[in-house]
Amino acid sequence: MVKVNSNYLKLQAGYLFPEIARRVNSFKQASPNADLIRLGIGDVTEPLPPACREAMKAAIDEMGTTEGFRGYGPEQGYIWLREAIAKEEFQKRGCEVDPDEIFISDGSKCDSSNILDILDIENRIAVTDPVYPVYVDSNVMSGRTGPAGDLGRYGGLLYLPIGAENSFQATIPDQKVDLIYLCFPNNPTGAVANKEQLQNWVNYAKRNEALILFDAAYEAFIQDKALPHSIYEIEGARDCAIEFRSFSKNAGFTGIRCAYTVIPKDLVGQSVDGKVDLWSLWNRRQSTKFNGVSYVVQRGAEAAYSSEGKAQISTLVNFYMENASIIRRDLSAAGLTVYGGEHAPYVWIKTPKDFDSWDFFDYLLKNANVVGTPGSGFGAAGEGYFRLSAFNSRENVVKAMNRISSL
Ligand code: MLT
Repeated sequence: MVKVNSNYLKLQAGYLFPEIARRVNSFKQASPNADLIRLGIGDVTEPLPPACREAMKAAIDEMGTTEGFRGYGPEQGYIWLREAIAKEEFQKRGCEVDPDEIFISDGSKCDSSNILDILDIENRIAVTDPVYPVYVDSNVMSGRTGPAGDLGRYGGLLYLPIGAENSFQATIPDQKVDLIYLCFPNNPTGAVANKEQLQNWVNYAKRNEALILFDAAYEAFIQDKALPHSIYEIEGARDCAIEFRSFSKNAGFTGIRCAYTVIPKDLVGQSVDGKVDLWSLWNRRQSTKFNGVSYVVQRGAEAAYSSEGKAQISTLVNFYMENASIIRRDLSAAGLTVYGGEHAPYVWIKTPKDFDSWDFFDYLLKNANVVGTPGSGFGAAGEGYFRLSAFNSRENVVKAMNRISSL
């Protein structure tokens, strides 16, 4: 009989969001008329920016002509998109990133999991707690952890707790790890890191010859000009960091799918035969296992950098950030303690009274018909917290806040 990957059996319950969907579906069956407002999963709700839409329409028409038709594209992505990204996202901020170091993909979730393909199974790994569950689960699935213990923490991973007591900034480990996942602006807490804090991580990584996997999927939501958007704004980061970026949340591409990963050519790792550059390994991996993102979608992503596209995206980002500030304002007025939501589309709430995270989830679902995300779903140290996403219509956000405020 075929043998399965038994590492999957170590995974706790379901992946968080399907588990929420399961609970919501059973609630809907019991209360079919409930007017549910979903502030759980961070999925965008507002229409695509017209500039991106027009570019995709034009690209599909082009594909309908003999001259404009295209088959397989480059696995790394079309050079015109990589050039636009290098210039607009990095070089304009003074970061040294070459178009060739950018790999276009269909999502940061996939890239941040797939990157493990090129990294040895013996690496010692650090994650924050709470954390975006994909980082942990992909390590579990690939056999890099032991089974889960009492708190749901997996053996072999180093968990770095983040909470109100340390302003949601993990303490730099006093032991050596090889791989560190960092996400800023942070999902789920909405916290941000300043340059000095990131410099401390880069210094640690360089001292310990570690690799930082830096998830910057929410960088567009940063409001303070002094805060770094990219790890490459930090001195030395090219020697120790890979960065993940996405068009999902800023340009509303969660249903379109386009993201990218930056692997500087300076980045090296240790192989059994000596040092190798990670860029070549990832290039090899992508060329073998991935056929690239569609031409049409890449044209849509490119249009995000036209002057109309930039203005439309900025309007979208501002819209969601106004939602976040309404959530912060109304929940604070209702007596709740709130964090995040100032440079990120997530508000991280201390659960009131004796509610644990799932109790509060069930309470809001039942009494306000509002769906959020229990903090404990992001890790043991997320217990006692609850996440609300700012991705929804203004009407729904206002309605949800009124309902919660009147409980
Ligand atoms: C979330 O709600 O945390 C996000 O939707 C996760 C993701 O982008 O995959």
